[in-house]
Amino acid sequence: MLDAVTGAFSFTGRAIAGRLLREGRDVVTLVRRHGAPDTDSRIRTAIVTLDDTARLADALDGVDTLYNTHWIRFARGKVSFELAIQRTRRLLDAARRAGVRRVVHVSVVNASESAPTAYFRAKARLEADVRASGLSYAIVRPTLTFGSRDILVNNLSWVLRRFPVFVMPGDGRYRLQPVHVDDVARIAVEAGQASADLVTDAAGPDILTFNQFVRLLADTVRSRAWLVHAPSPLSLAGSRVLGLLVRDVMLTRDEVTELTASLLVSQEPPQGTIHLGAWASAHADELGRTYHSELDRHYR
Ligand SMILES: NC(=O)c1ccc[n+]([C@@H]2O[C@H](COP(=O)([O-])OP(=O)(O)OC[C@H]3O[C@@H](n4cnc5c(N)ncnc54)[C@H](OP(=O)(O)O)[C@@H]3O)[C@@H](O)[C@H]2O)c1
Repeated sequence: MLDAVTGAFSFTGRAIAGRLLREGRDVVTLVRRHGAPDTDSRIRTAIVTLDDTARLADALDGVDTLYNTHWIRFARGKVSFELAIQRTRRLLDAARRAGVRRVVHVSVVNASESAPTAYFRAKARLEADVRASGLSYAIVRPTLTFGSRDILVNNLSWVLRRFPVFVMPGDGRYRLQPVHVDDVARIAVEAGQASADLVTDAAGPDILTFNQFVRLLADTVRSRAWLVHAPSPLSLAGSRVLGLLVRDVMLTRDEVTELTASLLVSQEPPQGTIHLGAWASAHADELGRTYHSELDRHYR
């Protein structure tokens, strides 16, 4: 059985592809460029952009289930949420033409047309497109995802390791429910193997306040940083200054809004089993050791 995964050389797509291979499935990935040397050589590569429906349909020929992780963290230059939506629509169209049995679409927890951020609203629009696609579908909605190669949790730990002060937006009492990327992959693959249309969250076993979350990471990396609170705009301004140093976008206004509104918490019983604390202590030496750049990974 052949499955397709978008972005199998990246973060969530890589975990999904790994899970599929372990279950004995063949995997083709739709990517813009060849993978890094550490990618699994069993993954077939189709170099294709999501702008070309005809070539996409060829790449999806013979595919049973399509796992779609394509998305952008923020709009930049000509790359906008609107463009990401158009590209995903083309992908869905190509999947239908190629006779793909089922699509597993990775969205985000609490995506809603009335959400306070453009990211979450755009995700809700795409969910509507998936529902209307005519394909059998599963929509998987992760919370904040952590694991090797993640960007946000790693970079937060990087700051905690290197700087004497860590500025938290607001009072830090808002909540989040981090999920491990392998839990997301398991939930996605199980959803792919089902046949009924379904929508499910992918959330971890623990709900933490942001204060607890930062404290956990600080203790893990033995940070001696002074943890302080500041109004969100000030904390965002601080992350922008750091962003200039590392030539990256470290945190967006949308992400601060989503965090402080506790949007990264599921209303469903959690399906994830991997605890952030256990994972972090097992990876204490590598966590935050090097900076992971969003712009290097996806824009340069
Ligand atoms: N990470 C989280 O904490 C989190 C939380 C909730 C939901 N999600 C959702 O999970 C899915 C996967 O997220 P992820 O963090 O694992 O993302 P990712 O691996 O960094 O990227 C996912 C895919 O999007 C493509 N992509 C990213 N930026 C792009 C750009 N600027 N232009 C064109 N393509 C771009 C990547 O292609 P290339 O590899 O070729 O750049 C890759 O195929 C997304 O739908 C996201 O909304 C993530």
